[in-house]
Amino acid sequence: MAAEWRTHNPDGSLRVLVTKELPGDRWLKILEAADCRVEVSRSAEVLGHDEIKEHIGSQCDGAIGQLTENWDADLFGALASAGGRAYSNYAVGYDNVDVPGATRHGIPVGNTPGVLTETTAEMAVALTFAAGRRIAEADRFIRGGKYDGWLPTLFMGQRLSGATVGVIGAGRIGAAYARMMVEGHKMNLVYFDPYPNEALERFITDYSTFLVEHGEPSVTCRRLDSIEDVLREADVVSLHTALNENTRHMINTQRLSLMKSDAVLVNSSRGPVIDEAALVDHCRTHPDFTVGLDVFEDEPAMKPGLADLDNVVIVPHIASATVWTRRGMATLAAANVAAVLEGYPLWKRDDVLPFLSGDVPEAAPSIVNAAELGLE
Ligand code: GLV
Ligand code: GLV
Repeated sequence: MAAEWRTHNPDGSLRVLVTKELPGDRWLKILEAADCRVEVSRSAEVLGHDEIKEHIGSQCDGAIGQLTENWDADLFGALASAGGRAYSNYAVGYDNVDVPGATRHGIPVGNTPGVLTETTAEMAVALTFAAGRRIAEADRFIRGGKYDGWLPTLFMGQRLSGATVGVIGAGRIGAAYARMMVEGHKMNLVYFDPYPNEALERFITDYSTFLVEHGEPSVTCRRLDSIEDVLREADVVSLHTALNENTRHMINTQRLSLMKSDAVLVNSSRGPVIDEAALVDHCRTHPDFTVGLDVFEDEPAMKPGLADLDNVVIVPHIASATVWTRRGMATLAAANVAAVLEGYPLWKRDDVLPFLSGDVPEAAPSIVNAAELGLE
C-alpha cells in the first residue's frame, strides 16, 4: 500500500521529499523559506526503495532520507532524472548512502554532525553504567518480585572509578565519551584511532595536572598501536567508528577472547561493527562480561539468543534521541538541502549552533562529498 504523505506549502516551486515525520518545526520553515513544497511521509514503516523511487516521480528537487533506507546509486539516478540537486541523511552516519553513486549523479549528500555528539556520548556512558552495574537485570529482578532483602552479594558489578576506559574511534563522539569518563570518573584512557586526537590528549594532560594540584591521583591518556592492545588493557571498551569495509565485524570471536573476562563492552556506533552471533556466544560463556548495545547487526532484528542474555543491556537505537538533538538534526538536514538548492556555500566551522538559534546562516552545514563535487 502506498504510504500517506502530508504536503506543506503546496505552492512552493521546488519539491522536496522527507521520508519520515521530523520533530520540531524550524526545519520546515527553512524549506518553506527556500520556496519548497515539502512532502512528508506519514508512514511509521521503513519506506522501500521502490516506494521512494515512485514518489520521487518526474519532478523532485531534493530529499531528506533516513538511515533505515538504502539510498543507492539507482535512487540517486532517479532523483537526478527528476531534476534533484540535493540530499541529506537525517543522521551523522551515512553508511546507508552510496556516496560515490550520489557523486556520479552530481548530488551533494548532507549529514547532521555536531548536534548529536554529547547526546550520543551520554547514551554510551549510560549504557556503560547500565551494563557494568547490571541495572536492567536488577530492574527485572525487583519487578519480578524476587527481592527478598538486602544481601552483601546481590548484583555485584564493576567499579569504574579509576579503572581504564578504552575507546575505539576517537572522532567527535568517541572523544566526548572519553572526556566524560575521564573527567567524571577519573578513569585512565587508552584509545585506538589511525589519527591521534591531539585536542583530547592535551585536555587529559592538562586535567591530570589540575587533579594533581588538587591532591588527587593523576589520569593518563595513551593512544595504542592496535585495537588488540586496547581490548587487552581496558576494563571498559566503547566503539565509536563509522561502519565501512574496515570496521565490519571489527569485534569478532578472536578479538573478544582478548578482553578481560569481566570487561564492559558498549556499542552506540553501528551494529555490524560487532559480529553479533559471536558476541552472543561470548556472553554465554563469560557471565561476568557485560555489554550495552544501542545498535544491532540486523536492525531491528537481534541475533538468536541475544535478548535472553542477562549480561546484555539493549536499547533500540536511541543514542541521539533527545528533543534538542533530534530537532537540531532536522534543522541541519533541512539547511543542507535548502542551502544547496539556493546555491549557498559550505559552512566552514565545526560549531553548528548558529543554525539552531537566531537567523539560519546562508550556508550548507555539512556536505560529505563537497570536495568531490568541487563545492569547497
Ligand atoms: C544515528 O545513528 C546517526 O548516525 O545519526
Ligand atoms: C561523528 O560525529 C564522529 O566523528 O564521531
